[in-house]
Amino acid sequence: MYPIWEVPILSSALVIGLIASFHVLASHLAVAAMWVTVLIEKIGLEKNRPEYFNFIKRFTLLLLIFSFIFGSLSGIGIWYSATVSSPRGISGLIHNYVWGWATEWVFFLIEIATIYAYYYTLGKVDGRTHVRIGYLYALAAWISMIIITGILAFQLTPGKWLETGDFFDGFFNPTYFPQLFTRTAVMFGVAGIYGLLIASTLKGETRFEITKIISRFAFAGMIFGLIFGYWYYKKLPDHAHQLLNSLPYMQTLAKVVLVAYAILTLYFLLTAFILPRLNNSVLSFILIVLTFVGVLSAEGIREGLRRPYIIFGYMYGHQAIAQDLLAKNIKAEVEVFEKEGLLSRLGYLPDSLRKITPENRLEVGRIVALHNCANCHAFTEGGIRPLPKILRKLSPSTPEDIDALLSALSAFPYIPPFIGNEEERKAAAEYLFTIVNKK
Ligand code: HEC
Repeated sequence: MYPIWEVPILSSALVIGLIASFHVLASHLAVAAMWVTVLIEKIGLEKNRPEYFNFIKRFTLLLLIFSFIFGSLSGIGIWYSATVSSPRGISGLIHNYVWGWATEWVFFLIEIATIYAYYYTLGKVDGRTHVRIGYLYALAAWISMIIITGILAFQLTPGKWLETGDFFDGFFNPTYFPQLFTRTAVMFGVAGIYGLLIASTLKGETRFEITKIISRFAFAGMIFGLIFGYWYYKKLPDHAHQLLNSLPYMQTLAKVVLVAYAILTLYFLLTAFILPRLNNSVLSFILIVLTFVGVLSAEGIREGLRRPYIIFGYMYGHQAIAQDLLAKNIKAEVEVFEKEGLLSRLGYLPDSLRKITPENRLEVGRIVALHNCANCHAFTEGGIRPLPKILRKLSPSTPEDIDALLSALSAFPYIPPFIGNEEERKAAAEYLFTIVNKK
């Protein structure tokens, strides 16, 4: 086991979530934008409307800066935060999908080369060639989504991979196609709202014409997204449905997603068919913020549905292996930790903390508790699922009460079983009892 990254208030999971949701805006914009842009370019060429190129220039510049600078940086941010938050989780993914990522990065390179080519050759090469560069970009970007979605979906529904350990069994898993189609549709909504922001900076009739084209694309994407999203929902495993229907915070998130989705769809409907004049910079900007909130909630649900696992059925949130994976000669660990203890596996600890003594009991208890709970709970008074508050609600009167809770964690369908031996569990319970009574 690696050291724990303890994040006060937010919890490490939410740090990844915030970075990743920002990245979703940038990446989905990057994948969808060019299909719309190329269409606008073709109409502009056909009707001989050079004003259209104003839009293309500005929109592509936004793409370059937002997606290819901030998007790329936040992509690296996901790697960093996920690596320190769940080193073994990332390691598990890399050991299975390193060639998936390598393939994705090939297409990512094509994207980067072609977006620069597209931007800097606008008006300098003939129209047909320029449109072709656009298509090349659009295709490469979509292929990168086709690849990364396989790895994302694998974490929730690894399917037959749990027996075979096979790359493609995990990649083409039960929720792969529903998730790919949903993302492919909804990305036009994400790109659309950025497109409308840029369109609102144009002058005269062009502004309304382009607003209409973009809004129709975006509206269609949102409607298809609804259909595919429902398909995705239906394909979720029973466990996921159970969490979605029983956890109050999941239902709050679901409501946020639905409201944001409805507002955005309505806006596109209005600007596409009824009132293109409605599109203005302030409103579009506010709706970009709303899109971020919606994406954050939707990704929060998607990530939460596989609790108590990081990789469903295979690795728990606290990074212990949940069951044997014979195909790869990997053994379940919970019982091993129960026998041999967790401390023996924490190579980073100084010698003074490797054996529990009356002096270091609370300090070691804290480390054991962090390994077990910090992935999903803040240890501070406030924040994400703050443990002191949550435990106080159970009004434990002795450390033994908490110890009883720790022994029975698997009664909750979203909390992994405790890892560690009896002595470590008692020390963790004593430490947790002190944070409950700090107030
Ligand atoms: C994989 C994530 C995860 C880990 C690890 C985890 N929990 Fe939780 N825990 C949750 C979730 C999700 C909830 C539901 C709370 C909510 O509605 O936000 C929860 C709720 C709880 C609750 C309230 C029970 C209820 O739902 O009424 C307690 C008590 C609790 N956790 C204790 C712990 C302790 C102690 C640890 C460490 C030994 C721990 N949890 C580790 C995810 C986790």
